[in-house]
Amino acid sequence: MPARRTSIHGEWSSRLAFILAATGSAVGLGNIWRFPYVTGESGGGAFVILYLVCVAAIGLPVMMAEIMLGRRGRQSPINTMRTLAREEGRSPAWQYVGWLGMAAGFLILSFYSVIAGWTLAYALRSVSGVFNGATAEGVAAIFEEFISDPERLLAWHTIFMVMTTIVVSRGVKSGLEQAVRYLMPALFVLLVVMVGYAMNTGQFEQAVNYLFTPDFSKITSGVVLNAMGQAFFSLSLGMGAIMIYGSYLSHTASIPRTAAIIALMDTLVAILAGLAIFPLVFEYGLAPSAGPGLIFQTLPIAFGQMPGGALVGFLFFVLLVFAAWTSAISLVEPVVAWLVENRGMQRVKAAALTGLMAWLCGILALLSLNLWSGDARFTFFGKGFLDLFDWVTSNVMLPLGGLLISVFAAWIMTRESSRGELGLANGMGYTLWRVLVRYVTPVAIGLILLNKTGILTP
Ligand code: PFF
Repeated sequence: MPARRTSIHGEWSSRLAFILAATGSAVGLGNIWRFPYVTGESGGGAFVILYLVCVAAIGLPVMMAEIMLGRRGRQSPINTMRTLAREEGRSPAWQYVGWLGMAAGFLILSFYSVIAGWTLAYALRSVSGVFNGATAEGVAAIFEEFISDPERLLAWHTIFMVMTTIVVSRGVKSGLEQAVRYLMPALFVLLVVMVGYAMNTGQFEQAVNYLFTPDFSKITSGVVLNAMGQAFFSLSLGMGAIMIYGSYLSHTASIPRTAAIIALMDTLVAILAGLAIFPLVFEYGLAPSAGPGLIFQTLPIAFGQMPGGALVGFLFFVLLVFAAWTSAISLVEPVVAWLVENRGMQRVKAAALTGLMAWLCGILALLSLNLWSGDARFTFFGKGFLDLFDWVTSNVMLPLGGLLISVFAAWIMTRESSRGELGLANGMGYTLWRVLVRYVTPVAIGLILLNKTGILTP
């Protein structure tokens, strides 16, 4: 085994710090904004079951592989892949997995920041009391008016991108590690409060049925792909975010246990978000398939009616901003690490440059909501830029990255290398992981992707 490398960017102060940071990356808009709306668009229960299966059978093994590769390579995903490939006597072309991830990260960050901007705006709106006593129609009208104003969206998008850039430029360790420690549990508690509220005032039973009673006739190739895409997006897999975080992880931590904790927490938050939102959707006769605006059109109704709702709404959206923030920094980190390693750039400059590029790209996403909405020149496959970036990254780029990571971890790396790094003895656990990443994940991802493109459809 080669001598152990150390990362030039530093190391987490403890295993707990890594768990918090990786959970911070995983838990974000993907759980609270994206999960409910994609569930709604994909018809409910059958999608949820498929999603859970994807998390367990694909997400968890790929997450272990990503942490393992990161910890062994100890560099940005591009350099990690090149180094590890060379070590196993393979082609340096494996570094393109890192490039693919970097491109996906850019695209995700660009629209992620726009949606995080909505969340910032909604924190302010909640506390200002505009939602007090508002009807479902009123809340929907406020939302429509908001997203049709490009200048306002741009201001919030800019603020969020600057926040993200500042944290990354200061290094992951100072500040963020601390913030995640308190804010994540707070978000969790507030979500439970929202579920409690939804239980008492909304159509809770209908929502539970909707989420957990699968109607298998609703399963199409698109729904399966959405479920897999959501698992990748929500767990931050396939683009090197978890890989770079793994590269700051100490050698003493157990990867399997750590990965399981992260996946479990992430899933729990998504389910809680579903249980908080769908009772209100049904209570107020809204369409589950309302799309990306779903939480912004449901939760404010609840905040407008509950006692102290202005404050609860404010807290909820502020915590959601923090959740988005801790995810966004993990999207920037792989790019920054690469710029520091290969271009000798200072961290501050690298973060500013990355933020600027993603900010520019975000403007395309933002304009697709208003000025360019429905304009055929800016519509591709029936989607505007925001929807397109969202769909293509989650459903194509991240799964493809995950497939290549699995193939590398299971077929390119030797048994000795992977077993040693995972810290598993030669027992059942290791065999199960290896079978999963060797056969199950690449085949499943490959089939799902091909099936959707129509190549496999009979
Ligand atoms: N997992 C994040 C969320 O659920 O909001 C989004 C995300 C972060 C996706 C980092 C991918 C990533 F690399």
